[in-house]
Amino acid sequence: MSNAKLEIEGKTIELPIIKGSENEVGLDISKLRAETGVITVDDGFVNTGSCESSITFINGGEGILRYRGYGIEELAEKSNFEEVAYLLINGELPTSAQLSGFKAKIAEYSTIPVEVKNIISSFPPEAHPMAVVSSAMVALSAFYPELQKGTLTEADTEKVIPLVMGAMKVIAAANYRHSKGKTTGTPNGKYNYAQDFTNLMFDKVDDDIARALDVLFILHADHEQNCSASTVRVVGSSRANLFASVSAGINALWGPLHGGANQKVIEMLDAIQNDGGDYKKWLGKAKDKSDPFRLMGFGHRVYKNFDPRAKIIKKACDTILNKLGVQDPILDIAKGLEEQALSDEYFVERKLYPNVDFYSGIIYRALGIPTHMFTVMFALGRLPGWVSQWKEMIESPNLKICRPRQIYTGSKLRSYTGIESR
Ligand SMILES: CC(C)(COP(=O)(O)OP(=O)(O)OC[C@H]1O[C@@H](n2cnc3c(N)ncnc32)[C@H](O)[C@@H]1OP(=O)(O)O)[C@@H](O)C(=O)NCCC(=O)NCCS
Repeated sequence: MSNAKLEIEGKTIELPIIKGSENEVGLDISKLRAETGVITVDDGFVNTGSCESSITFINGGEGILRYRGYGIEELAEKSNFEEVAYLLINGELPTSAQLSGFKAKIAEYSTIPVEVKNIISSFPPEAHPMAVVSSAMVALSAFYPELQKGTLTEADTEKVIPLVMGAMKVIAAANYRHSKGKTTGTPNGKYNYAQDFTNLMFDKVDDDIARALDVLFILHADHEQNCSASTVRVVGSSRANLFASVSAGINALWGPLHGGANQKVIEMLDAIQNDGGDYKKWLGKAKDKSDPFRLMGFGHRVYKNFDPRAKIIKKACDTILNKLGVQDPILDIAKGLEEQALSDEYFVERKLYPNVDFYSGIIYRALGIPTHMFTVMFALGRLPGWVSQWKEMIESPNLKICRPRQIYTGSKLRSYTGIESR
């Protein structure tokens, strides 16, 4: 493919075309400003690629999601969370020795300093868990000054990655236990990640619950340059440490337009149920432009077709609720809402489909996870994605601090007026 040509005020410049391995095409505008004095503007980065990455591939038109080339459907069925985390972080599926080594490292670092436990228990028990988890994550950095350096050796990276992963499950469960008046649980290296997390939460391991969580963690593990992953990259690009970068990612995930949607979906389904279950009325609210209400768990920046994760989660939802003997009336409301929306002109025209958050909360609730902790569950799953995006970035020879430009629209130069004359 030849270079693209751009004409600005009579001057033509050539922009190199970059092609990805799945044939996506981008224009390299890195010299645009230097050559023309002009920048690009793209609210919400709708058309902006922030990096080249070999981690995750999404084709939003066809509903495809792959980690390192492996289809999400196959990974959810055949793999497990630690293996997927290793794959994302290192680029290849592990051998059994590599997997055991990775698990052993996570187990070794699955403890948090007593001072971090104290920080968690100093929060009000009813504090939102995302505030507690992001605070505890960044607090950890204070206990590992050797891992705060701007550039890390390979040995540092090999320590900080399992440390962040091991600590995250302890922090997430410690926060839950604190809200129930209990002290932090003790990790157990004989369990896998999801089993250990359920044990840390509930002091018991139920294999059905752990496998359901394992699949949910896999489905959430990465999603290329989404809001929180981009946040991790932006913060990390200043050479801030991994704890600080991940903590920033947790905060970006909290918002209801991103990971916070899983909490909002359940609150919405509960509100519909308490309102008599009339989901058609709520669909009308979502379409009404004078009403700020949006159908939570619907729509996606990239998927303009079924979110492949939502398909798997919907099926898993039926299976796990049956297995646990849980009957939740909001599942019927969710299914009715989905059916109605998928045949409604407003949603069809805008290509709005259920996303990953639409059914996940119903599973979390059946597993005994409190609603305000749902986004923490998303964060636990997304952690390997954040870590792999950060690692890819700091290892890249093209690493530059992320520093967008702007078009200034404020006042021109004016003179200062003393307060008495204003
Ligand atoms: C995910 C989301 C933020 C994507 O936003 P986006 O790519 O910027 O898309 P837009 O907000 O421009 O939406 C495009 C159109 O669809 C409408 N729309 C998008 N999502 C909608 C929803 N959930 N309910 C009702 N209308 C929706 C918008 O109002 C807009 O309509 P218009 O063209 O008439 O103005 C958005 O779909 C949303 O808010 N969804 C609900 C929150 C959610 O589930 N987030 C989790 C994502 S995994």
